Amino acid sequence: MSFPKRTVTCGELRREHVGRWVRLNGWVARVRDLGGVIFVDVRDRYGITQVIVRPAEQPEIAQQVRQLTPESVIWVEGTVQERESPNPQLPTGLVEVRAEALGVLSLAEPLPFPLSEEGRVGEELRLRYRYLDLRRAQMQQNLLLRHRVYQVVHRYFDELGFVEVETPILARSTPEGARDFLVPCRLQPGKFYALPQSPQLFKQLLMVAGLDRYVQIAKCFRDEDLRADRQPEFTQVDVEMSFVEPDDVIAVTEGLFARLWREVLGRELSLPFPRLSYREAMERYGSDKPDLRYGLELVRLTELFADSGVKVLRSVVEHNGEVAAVVAPGCAGYTRAQLEELTELARRHGASGMLWLKYEETGWSSPVLKHFREGELERLQQRLQLRQGDLALLVADQWERCYSALGALRREIARRLGLTRSQQDCFVWIVDFPLLEYSEEEGRFVARHHPFTAPRPQDIPLLESAPERVHAQAYDLVLNGEEVGGGSIRIHDLELQRRVFAVLGLSPQQVEEQFGFFLQAFRYGAPPHGGIALGLDRIVMLMVGAESIRDVIAFPKTTSGASLLDGAPAPVPQEQLRELGIALVPSEEEH
Ligand code: AMO
Repeated sequence: MSFPKRTVTCGELRREHVGRWVRLNGWVARVRDLGGVIFVDVRDRYGITQVIVRPAEQPEIAQQVRQLTPESVIWVEGTVQERESPNPQLPTGLVEVRAEALGVLSLAEPLPFPLSEEGRVGEELRLRYRYLDLRRAQMQQNLLLRHRVYQVVHRYFDELGFVEVETPILARSTPEGARDFLVPCRLQPGKFYALPQSPQLFKQLLMVAGLDRYVQIAKCFRDEDLRADRQPEFTQVDVEMSFVEPDDVIAVTEGLFARLWREVLGRELSLPFPRLSYREAMERYGSDKPDLRYGLELVRLTELFADSGVKVLRSVVEHNGEVAAVVAPGCAGYTRAQLEELTELARRHGASGMLWLKYEETGWSSPVLKHFREGELERLQQRLQLRQGDLALLVADQWERCYSALGALRREIARRLGLTRSQQDCFVWIVDFPLLEYSEEEGRFVARHHPFTAPRPQDIPLLESAPERVHAQAYDLVLNGEEVGGGSIRIHDLELQRRVFAVLGLSPQQVEEQFGFFLQAFRYGAPPHGGIALGLDRIVMLMVGAESIRDVIAFPKTTSGASLLDGAPAPVPQEQLRELGIALVPSEEEH
């Protein structure tokens, strides 16, 4: 034998094993030297087992143990015995192994950070030494739960007759709205593959190919600004189905979540999930991914202020804008600085400003108090159902800016009131999205999801005359304020697809160049189809209650896109660039 191999893992010994000879392999989690007795906690993925050494009886082993460094890998053998002081916290806590021989398999150098100091170690250090960070119980649990999610996904879709197909990683650009990661091609200098932003085009082609039901746990790549819930490479549970309507895709998706919650978390979800139209979500919660764990619903006040004495409110209403409010219960004590922070937040979300009113025992206070007409404040108090001590935050602006800003205020108030810590699972479907949105930047309509999303049949006649009024057959799934999935019914009619491209301002040549190969397929018999993609990292993050998807990805990147572990991205030798026909342009500073 090349090394003394374990007969049991560190997680399996129980009282019934007392008296048995065993050998463990594992990491030294902790050594407690009490003089007359030394305890060594040996750890592996399965658990922790206590090993006991009595220096008086086993001086040699004691000496060996005293030289062990934390996180060294050892083998140890001996007899299982009952503990004098059991530890009910540990599954192995009733027993211990009396060491009879021990050896070091790999002596660890001093660690860059102690593994026991959870949460106190900076993330940069954790990511640089990720293999150490991953030894921590929490991280192991996260990865194990993620593994169980994969298994349920595979089983669930297999049972429903879905076929798992791998789609290419080296492909052409797919239009999901982010920037592409490009890969140069040595055999064809000057040409590039794009890493897929999603398998969208390929999964649709699989429907044209007659696969009928497709699923893939797919890696996707997007060069976009990163946040706690976004990584440049992430994982989707990608689904596509033929001969379906939105309800079919929604039902399959809900079934998956019910299974995941039951089999992985042991919790029952109640189905079906509620649905909100995009408009209702915006007007009630100020977001297309509303967190329904708490109320704090927005209140529309537009009519109330049509004839307001406060000029800013009246004039916004006169110009077809909206006035709405959110109430911060019990927050009338907010200081000027706190109110200033909230105003700044509303501004960052597009509003030109925010008005506040405090409703207190001593009366109202607000910077615009004296402008309100007779009876206006009473009506406002009734409409908002204000109670003494409440703070009302009002925004008056064009529809989208008004509600987006209030949505941001709603979230911030919820956070300050501790409402976002609630442990509920509030799923909601957002439906009836507009198909298109006008991009001021580009001076044209752009697709809200992607250009293959089908319009609602009844809206098709409006495509050219009133594109802003066309709704999509699209659906997003939201859990506790996080978008965990999105999909749609696709256009399978070539003519309709051409009309949508035209409304998006793409010339027939541009369409041919970018999507010719794709549209070609629709000439030879394409079934009606639709699907969805679920953000697996986000789902696992919410299942384990992590703060960031980085905590459920084995080797994630920082918000600047760096992998601190292996130092990617990194420069490459000149020779490699030459081979690819690539020359680097000096950056601005180097000029
Ligand atoms: P979409 O772009 O909405 O749809 O993506 C689907 C889901 O993927 C997750 N997601 C991300 N997760 C982590 N990091 C990212 N950078 C990231 N970007 C997206 C989200 C999101 O809801 N092809 C379409 C789906 C379809 O129409 O079938 C698509 O990719 O949870």
